[in-house]
Amino acid sequence: MSDPIDTSDFARYLRQRADLGLDEIFLEGLTRDEVLKVVAEARRSAASAAARVTASDSAGEMDADFVAAAASESSSRVLSQSERPGSRNPGYEATPSGQDKPGTEEISAPEVDLTVLNYHELESVAGSCEACQLAQGRTQVVFSDGNPQARLMVVGEAPGANEDRTGVPFVGQAGKFLDLLLAAVDLSRKDSVYICNVLKCRPPGNRDPMSDEIERCSPFLKRQIALVAPEVILAVGTFAAQLLTGANRPLGKLRGSVYAYEGVPLVVTYHPAALLRNAGWTRSTWDDLQLLRQVMDGS
Ligand code: URA
Repeated sequence: MSDPIDTSDFARYLRQRADLGLDEIFLEGLTRDEVLKVVAEARRSAASAAARVTASDSAGEMDADFVAAAASESSSRVLSQSERPGSRNPGYEATPSGQDKPGTEEISAPEVDLTVLNYHELESVAGSCEACQLAQGRTQVVFSDGNPQARLMVVGEAPGANEDRTGVPFVGQAGKFLDLLLAAVDLSRKDSVYICNVLKCRPPGNRDPMSDEIERCSPFLKRQIALVAPEVILAVGTFAAQLLTGANRPLGKLRGSVYAYEGVPLVVTYHPAALLRNAGWTRSTWDDLQLLRQVMDGS
């Protein structure tokens, strides 16, 4: 690694690995002195961090794809950029392939006309929604987290057990990993990200969302997007990606392009929970995050 090391980024990376309970990290390509510098910084800035760093001098085991990925350029393509009148964003046309329709079609909404509600009304109507069977098993509706003024909206799949208990999306292990991924491109839910899900209630046993549940719940998401008016959307996981692109293709085939959801640029990537199970998707996810950053930076 020839570039100067940004020790604060490494410190944050190590803290987040520790938060995730991942207590062993191999730093390939760093000299012993460089590793010691990184570790010293991590210790200074997070005295309580539990990370144990196993360093090898220059070669060695590689378990930190992010370290390597950080040095690489994104190979993804940005497609279909044009100006959208009256928009804060550059406009994006229909899906890149032109084969699938963007996910903007009307779908059956709950009884209330959500399109006339303001943000607080929408949240309140969602809070007492009984439009599908998930209402019976939920502890509470999980509407959103983060900053409603944020430029970026992240859309996940559905609450899990931790989210159902706390009422906050992405607070479990996948959520911590999502925070790590966002931090890697300088984004945080505290200031710069708004987070929500396709489904606002937990499917029992964390099973996949069913199509009628998505149909009944997605009008909430549609109105949420209209009200939050993000400049960019990041869909994580197959369900969010397919719903918002309108394309019924596997995520591996969807990722790598910029779509448009009602004129808002949309990037899709793997769900952090899937990524935790399959480290082989790390490089692709890193590329997707670089693409997201490019779209946000207007480059
Ligand atoms: N997975 C999701 O897709 N959303 C959450 O809120 C939590 C886990």
